[in-house]
Parts: sequence; C-alpha cells; structure tokens
Amino acid sequence: YSLSSIKWWHLFEMKPRKRHVLLLQMFGMTAFLASYLDVFYHFHECCRPEWISFNRTALEADLESKLFGQHIASSIILKAVNGFMKNKYPKKPLVLSLHGSTGTGKNFVSKLIAENIYKEGMESRFVHVFTSTLHFPHPSQYLTYKSQLQQWIKGNVSKCERSMFIFDEMDKMHPDLIDSIKPHLEYYDKLDGVSYRKAIFIFLSNAGGDSITRTALNFWEDGRKREEMELKDLETMLTLAVFNNNQSGFFHASLIDKNLVDFFVPFLPLEYSHVVQCALAEMKARRRKPDWDVAVKLVKVVKDLVYFPKTERVFSVKGCKTIVSKLDYYT
Ligand SMILES: *[C@@H]1O[C@H](CO)[C@@H](O)[C@H](O)[C@H]1NC(C)=O
Ligand SMILES: *[C@@H]1O[C@H](CO)[C@@H](O)[C@H](O)[C@H]1NC(C)=O
Ligand SMILES: *[C@@H]1O[C@H](CO)[C@@H](O)[C@H](O)[C@H]1NC(C)=O
Repeated sequence: YSLSSIKWWHLFEMKPRKRHVLLLQMFGMTAFLASYLDVFYHFHECCRPEWISFNRTALEADLESKLFGQHIASSIILKAVNGFMKNKYPKKPLVLSLHGSTGTGKNFVSKLIAENIYKEGMESRFVHVFTSTLHFPHPSQYLTYKSQLQQWIKGNVSKCERSMFIFDEMDKMHPDLIDSIKPHLEYYDKLDGVSYRKAIFIFLSNAGGDSITRTALNFWEDGRKREEMELKDLETMLTLAVFNNNQSGFFHASLIDKNLVDFFVPFLPLEYSHVVQCALAEMKARRRKPDWDVAVKLVKVVKDLVYFPKTERVFSVKGCKTIVSKLDYYT
C-alpha cells in the first residue's frame, strides 16, 4: 500500500502490523503538518518577535490607567523597560528591584511588564516566577536549590534569551541563593556559552517598605503633596534600609555594592482615594455597572479597611490587596 492509493476501508483489511506502520506514517504526516503550520502561522508560542515584542505606548497606557498612586514607580519602570527593550545590544540584563509594603502594586506591575512584552503575558513559557516560601521553603536545603536555580536560569535563557525571571519575597530568600543568581546579572559577554544580556530580572520585596512609608508620612505631615515626592527623597533611605537590614537577604548579597541592580523602585503606601480607584477598576474588569447601590457598598468596604496612623487614617495597611476578596463578599 502506498499512502496516496490508500482507501480508508483498507485499514480494516490489513494485517495489524502493517496497519500500525501505516497509521504511524499518517500521524507522522500530521506531526509534520503541525510543525509546518507552526513555523508559518506561529500557532505555538516561540522565542520570536511575533510573540515577544515591546510596545511603549501600551505599557504607558497601562501604567496610567491601571496602577494607582505610584507616580515614581510608573515613571522609573517605563523609562527602564523602554530603554532596555530599545537597546539591541544591552551590556547586561535588566535588573529591577521593587520595594514597598503589601498591596502597593509590586506584583501587579510585574504582570503589566510581562503583558506588554510577551503576547501570552504571565502565561508565557518565557516568564518564570519564583516565590521564596514556595520554591525554596527549607533554608537547610539551599545548596540543592542553588544548583537547581542556576540550572533553570541557564536552561531557560539558552532556549530564549529574552526570558523574564520574577523573584517574589526576595527578602525571605537565603543570601547564598541570591548570591548564586549574581553571575547571571553581571556584565559578562557570555557565561558558560550563554548570554544573559537580554534577560529581565525583577526582584520583589517588602524590604525598605517601612522607610518609604515613613517618608510618605513625613510628606503628609508637612502638608506637602504626594505627587511632589521624588525618587531622590526616597532613594538614599531606601538603599540604606535595604542594605542595613540584616533581616533581608540583600544585606549579605553583594547585589547592591556591585551595582548589579539597575533600578530600585519604591512603591508608596496607598491612600483611601487610591483604594477606591482599585475597587472601581476591579468592578470595571468584572463588567459591573457601578450603580448607586453598589457604589454605596463600595465606599463602605473601602472605608472599613484598616488605615494608619490610627487617628488620621491616611494610608491603607494592606493597600489594594484585600479589596478584591472584599468585593466578592459585599457585592
Ligand atoms: C501599541 O499599543 C497601542 C495601544 O495599545 C496600539 O494602539 C498600537 O497599535 C500598538 N503598536 C504596535 C506597533 O503594535
Ligand atoms: C525553566 O524554568 C522552569 C521553572 O520556572 C523549570 O521548571 C524548567 O526546568 C526550566 N527549563 C530548563 C530548560 O531548564
Ligand atoms: C541585626 O541588627 C541589629 C541592630 O543593628 C542587631 O542588634 C542584631 O544583633 C543583628 N542581627 C544579626 C543576626 O546580625
């Protein structure tokens, strides 16, 4: 039998072995067709511009319309990511360290960055998230984690140099584990034959959150506008707090003194009005029309959150973090 002359009923007349071989041939054909379609129509995500490209306008629009109360973070992120993605020959990978207390938008911003570079966003095969307490829970096993992590980073960047790695809860990570990432962040042309220069590393941590909050509170007490706050008002204090805090992994790791982190990005504590904006955005995402009834409930939900300082109630303790689950409950 040849493939072209075959009629479907022949399949039943054949000896099992022959049928098997023929079926294999036919499936071989489909596999070939599939890969053909893949190459020409890009059905599956691959490490190519059709799937990985950056659109500055879109990121800017997202930061403006979806991230609330973070004018400093917004502008640093936009400049940093745009500059890096435009550069065809970066000298080192982009390393961003996002700092701030819970619910201020650090995870959310990482998601926005991923969505504006990878068509598949956080679902992309080239975006990797490591959470300290989840992926590296036992401090005693850090030696195992260390080699595993280095293997993963190397393996993934070999497959696609435009890979993104997000490290959540960086302050809970074993210092030696942080040290093991370090070689990948350096100005090496190639390390073990792999170039990391187009990769993106994002570190998230609460470290320095307290000092950011204190600065924001001082501003508020002085009657100055939040929007007047600039990076330089926070930068020194932030690096000091992160560096001198022996609780945080950064302390031991020499990421900072070797200047491997390109940008320290502070996230300010959120005020009542920002949490309302978060709630409204969430309602919009759920395609719920904010009718009067819902609006009244919403205001109550946001008012009932915990704020500090206790008497003045300026900043939301959990930022926008709990608002989503609270909305589920009340509306
Ligand atoms: C970039 O994003 C903007 C806003 O989403 C869109 O209008 C524009 O067409 C995009 N540009 C490219 C080149 O994809
Ligand atoms: C890529 O990273 C993931 C973890 O996000 C890991 O499971 C996988 O083995 C890595 N791939 C390679 C080729 O190392
Ligand atoms: C951390 O720093 C504090 C204050 O500087 C000090 O009292 C404490 O002993 C330090 N802890 C460790 C483990 O070094």
